[in-house]
Amino acid sequence: MHTASALLLCSKRDQFPMPVEPSASPRRANPFHLFILAPLALALVLAGRRVGEGFDPAPLPTGAAHLGPSAKAEEEHQAVLGASERIGEGVLPGPEDFAYDEEEALLYTGCEDGWIRRLRLGSPEKDAAAVVVEDWVRVGGRPLGVALAPDGGLVVAESSQGLLKVNKDGEVKLLTSGAEGRSFKLTDGVDVASNGVIYFTDASYKYDLMEHHLDIFEGRPYGRLLSFDPSTNQTTVLARDLYFANGVSLSSDQKSIIFCETPLRRCRRYYIEGEKKGKVEGFVENLPGFPDNIRYDGKGRYWIALAAGRSLFWDLLMKYPLLRKLKVNFGLHVRVPSFGNSGLLGVSLRGKPVALLKDADLSLVTVGQQIGKHLYFGSLVESHVLRVDVSKLVKER
Ligand SMILES: *[C@@H]1O[C@H](CO)[C@@H](O)[C@H](O)[C@H]1NC(C)=O
Repeated sequence: MHTASALLLCSKRDQFPMPVEPSASPRRANPFHLFILAPLALALVLAGRRVGEGFDPAPLPTGAAHLGPSAKAEEEHQAVLGASERIGEGVLPGPEDFAYDEEEALLYTGCEDGWIRRLRLGSPEKDAAAVVVEDWVRVGGRPLGVALAPDGGLVVAESSQGLLKVNKDGEVKLLTSGAEGRSFKLTDGVDVASNGVIYFTDASYKYDLMEHHLDIFEGRPYGRLLSFDPSTNQTTVLARDLYFANGVSLSSDQKSIIFCETPLRRCRRYYIEGEKKGKVEGFVENLPGFPDNIRYDGKGRYWIALAAGRSLFWDLLMKYPLLRKLKVNFGLHVRVPSFGNSGLLGVSLRGKPVALLKDADLSLVTVGQQIGKHLYFGSLVESHVLRVDVSKLVKER
């Protein structure tokens, strides 16, 4: 009740600032003020007392944090759960990202218990129930992004340590843990170019994984897009001041990188060669949810995971820093579901949304990897992988 009132009040106040005029009957207390403003004022006072050290929410940049319509895909499937089967139920805690070794038919994923596990797919047609899950290497911490290197090793973005390399024999070494005098706090997305150069993100140099919601609620750009060149051991910052820099994918022609900024509901392109080298350009914006990892399917389509669908709750929260402050400092609890309507958005090589596969009951989908006709959904929180026969849902392009 208070929450709803606060939401409404804040939105009205910010949208229509009222000039202060002397009231005709100043003594008369308006019950509206008593019942609604008083609890809000109290909430603010209490919130002020509980302000977390250094938590300072800011408005998102105008133009990026608009409330306009979301980009619409040509095809939308609202109930993808019904068309899915589960793999590795109970033995894949939080499979956040995927890397697929086509030669060996192995799908690698990082789990929340610090293990890199791999799914032995055998023939792509194999029954989901017949897929074998193996514990491969425990890197510790919380491995997020994973990507195969040309030498067959696996590069892992482990949220707290930084960028790791696991060679074919399972030996783990740290590649890099910081740049320009700042340690990574939330190493997140990664991809490897065919020449071996690694592209990755540090979502935040201020907040770690346990506090990632604070980064998103603060609405300030602590994220960076970086590269690591194994031939020189050089770590380079390519783009800075990013809003929760998340998923990364080489473009199909390897001339640019697409990277996603979660709270701004957009992905942009960074050019690594050619005339526009070093420039950042828009790729897709107004996403119908909050983007996480992005993976190229090898045949003209990127799958962008939408960890949470867009909603009125998120629109208001992201628009008004005051609400984010209340939410964090006062534990503003809201009954409306803040997650759900998660899924995968397929976009063309030029960033045009072509297919949205979502479900009201899906939340925190963090990656989508297409292998043959199947699309594999990974998640930050579920303890299985979902598999969908995408050829039955989306027309071939
Ligand atoms: C890069 O670092 C590794 C240790 O991780 C070292 O063996 C290698 O010689 C270094 N390469 C260069 C070019 O400095």
